[in-house]
Amino acid sequence: MAGTGVETEQAGWSSRWAFILAAVGAAVGLGNIWRFPTLAGENGGGAFVLFYILCVIFLGLPLVLSEIVIGRHGRKDAAGSVAKVAQDSGVSTNWAILGGIGIIAAFCILSTYSIIAGWVIYYAGVMGADFFGALFSGDPFASALAGEAPEAIGGRMDSLFANVPLLIVMHTLFMGVTIWIVARGVLSGIEKAATYLMPAFFVLLITITAYGAFTGEFARAVSFLFTPDFSRLTPPIMNQALGQALFSMSLSSAALITYGAYVSRETRLPPVAGMIGLADTGVAIVAGLMIFPIVFAAGLDPAAGATLIFRSLPLAFNAMPAGALIGFLFFVLIFFAALTSSISLLEAVTAWAMRRFAWSRHRAALVAGGAIYAVGALCALSLNVLSDVRLLSFWPSFAEADIMNALDGVVGTILLPVAALLTAIFIGWKADRNLVVAETGLEGGLFALWRFLIAWLCPLAVTLILLFGLFPGLLGS
Ligand code: TRP
Repeated sequence: MAGTGVETEQAGWSSRWAFILAAVGAAVGLGNIWRFPTLAGENGGGAFVLFYILCVIFLGLPLVLSEIVIGRHGRKDAAGSVAKVAQDSGVSTNWAILGGIGIIAAFCILSTYSIIAGWVIYYAGVMGADFFGALFSGDPFASALAGEAPEAIGGRMDSLFANVPLLIVMHTLFMGVTIWIVARGVLSGIEKAATYLMPAFFVLLITITAYGAFTGEFARAVSFLFTPDFSRLTPPIMNQALGQALFSMSLSSAALITYGAYVSRETRLPPVAGMIGLADTGVAIVAGLMIFPIVFAAGLDPAAGATLIFRSLPLAFNAMPAGALIGFLFFVLIFFAALTSSISLLEAVTAWAMRRFAWSRHRAALVAGGAIYAVGALCALSLNVLSDVRLLSFWPSFAEADIMNALDGVVGTILLPVAALLTAIFIGWKADRNLVVAETGLEGGLFALWRFLIAWLCPLAVTLILLFGLFPGLLGS
């Protein structure tokens, strides 16, 4: 029966709030807490943040609404839903390719995501052991990794990267939990996980941010994030900000279409899309306000790059009171955020496999998860034994990228923008106008505004990202 989409048809969120929590859970992830502060730090803060916010408002939000509209109308996986909307609009069902690209993107993102989430689990374990050790010896306010020299703390990351069995164990744990939750289904797996994990996430986020605000250099972090220096806003940086906005809102990767398929017909979608965008952007900014006061107080470099939270922040946790506890909570928080995202990534692929091969949910989750696990293992190996492999050596932009970075680069600069572009053209120009009006529930001026953004601004802006992402030479700098 799964082949007819019947299971997707029946499954559904228990309420509008359940959907919002699950979708916010999908959006809020490593992208907000690891990638956003990393990019903001590397690119000088303020101007990047401002441009990022513009991208969210003018491109991200209209696309979020479009994807949920496609899912709710189609009530299938991403490719199946696009095909249904195309069919009901009397245009070619080949448009399903845009859902297909999204599913491939979700597959690739989860392969790399699981490895980084594995580092998070490792650090949560290290800090947790530290905290509980100190607690039982009567010192709950111990700093993290006390007695370790700064070089040793930084070196932990190198030894983790060199430790194949440890990386694989963490990867296995993370994918195992993800597969288990998705196999349990929309209601008792995905929705349940989101209703526990997301509130816990928000409590942790507020606690740690408050701690940083009182003990760290909060004012400096605020001015770093909100004082724009427009001379730093070069086209490549705008390009990165756009890509980050798509990634962070889980756009173009089949997730919102898939989750949209489980939304009831009664739910009004524009406010929901707005809430997802607001929560995602809010968390990215609060994550910046959580991390940078600590970074500045410890005299660390905000532009440290991808290792900022793994190599630099533990130094700060080492230097501050109650650092073991805060460090432990910090990594638990990231773990929760990553897990609700990985669930959505796997669900996007699983829903497709269920329809395409008429598999049961268990089987689809296991096979899809297993395939992603295998590619993820290659990414883990690309940190060590396979570190010299260059899959894209023929491609100047990625010539130096190892397997994991190549995958990440292709997704970010090609797959996501291409799927976003196709989504905008499909919804803006191809989908039946009455269908779109009915699904969005927008009227008058608001509809005209949304339609202008999706039909004109998105295709134009996204084409620019694609061009500059693929041919940086065009920019001449
Ligand atoms: N938005 C997620 C984050 O910020 C990453 C992501 C991209 C994602 N596409 C997705 C998560 C699809 C779930 C589904 O970390």
